[in-house]
Amino acid sequence: MSLLDVFDLPQIYTKPSPEALLETLAILTSAPPSWEPSDIKDTTECSARLGRRRITKSKAPQINPEGVSRYLTSIVSSDLRWIQDEEAKEEIWNQASFRLSERSGRTAMGALSRKFRIPSPEGHIELSIHEPALTGDDLGLKTWAASYLLAKRLPTFNLVQPGRKLQVLELGSGTGLVGLAMASLGADVVLTDLTSIHPNLVRNLRDNNEIVQERNGSVKSGVLDWTEPTSCQLFLNGDLKTDESYVNLDTKFPVILATDSLYSPEHPRWLVNTIETWLAQDNDAKVIVEFPLRDAYLPEIQNFREHMSKIGLLVLEEGHEVGYDDWGHCGVDEEEDDNALVRCWWSCWGRSLVAK
Ligand SMILES: C[S@@+](CC[C@H](N)C(=O)[O-])C[C@H]1O[C@@H](n2cnc3c(N)ncnc32)[C@H](O)[C@@H]1O
Repeated sequence: MSLLDVFDLPQIYTKPSPEALLETLAILTSAPPSWEPSDIKDTTECSARLGRRRITKSKAPQINPEGVSRYLTSIVSSDLRWIQDEEAKEEIWNQASFRLSERSGRTAMGALSRKFRIPSPEGHIELSIHEPALTGDDLGLKTWAASYLLAKRLPTFNLVQPGRKLQVLELGSGTGLVGLAMASLGADVVLTDLTSIHPNLVRNLRDNNEIVQERNGSVKSGVLDWTEPTSCQLFLNGDLKTDESYVNLDTKFPVILATDSLYSPEHPRWLVNTIETWLAQDNDAKVIVEFPLRDAYLPEIQNFREHMSKIGLLVLEEGHEVGYDDWGHCGVDEEEDDNALVRCWWSCWGRSLVAK
């Protein structure tokens, strides 16, 4: 496909029609569907507040990124006085502003919903994950590379056996991708996180409930803070604001999942204490985790290994793989995209090697 230059786009001084401008702005979407460039063709659909228009990136022409920000600024700063339709003008300004903020990285972007394609024994499924506009330190409002990698790896562990319901607990679920993928394999999954993350988690559980149920799985959500590992409030139908009815979780789980959970010195101890609290005593109980190997947090990973071995768990299987932690300035700056590449370590832990 040939690369268009910014000068090939309708220029403001030529007084382009609203349709031409909106079409161009749709093409300039740097939609971040997943972190797999090879998947973009199948999965790129970015909606929500990125704009009412949907565009399949594979059908759009490629635009040379040089000068695109300047082009967008020329639209935002124009009074578009040749366009009579006030609503169309608003839409053009909005879309141009969205395109500019996409080019400033994820934190500058608004809320968005993304579709993730996950392999399953019956073929691929698509999970729709909503991410609110990012605020402060709420890392759980974004979906991280390790979670997408583990979501895709889950079927390889053959955890769900025919005729046996599997109960799974996820710790620090964030937007819920891993827990939802597990439930789509037919497991009953409790997804947990902090109070501030829980409402968006509930939204994602609701958005994907149908696909989970079609596959004989179920999802529930709870608030479980690793600093108080013995208490988990399980919400049966709703979020914290509207639903007062919760029960205290009191079962243990044969499988626990966690991704990207180690980014402070206390995290390994807290996480492992929580695992110890909720992991069933069965010999075949398993803990499956995936963490990015960020230089700054390698001591945390080592610490996690040590704490896990202190509670009698050992690695049954482990490996490394590479994913995309974010889309950087996707399609805008190739170097940024490279920076988004992240190497992750996955591991499956159990009480004895025989259980493998
Ligand atoms: C980097 S995010 C990863 C989210 C998700 N697992 C993923 O990989 O996309 C870390 C998650 O751990 C949660 N978390 C951090 N500290 C926690 C704590 N003390 N108790 C429970 N969850 C915690 C955060 O709220 C956040 O959702």
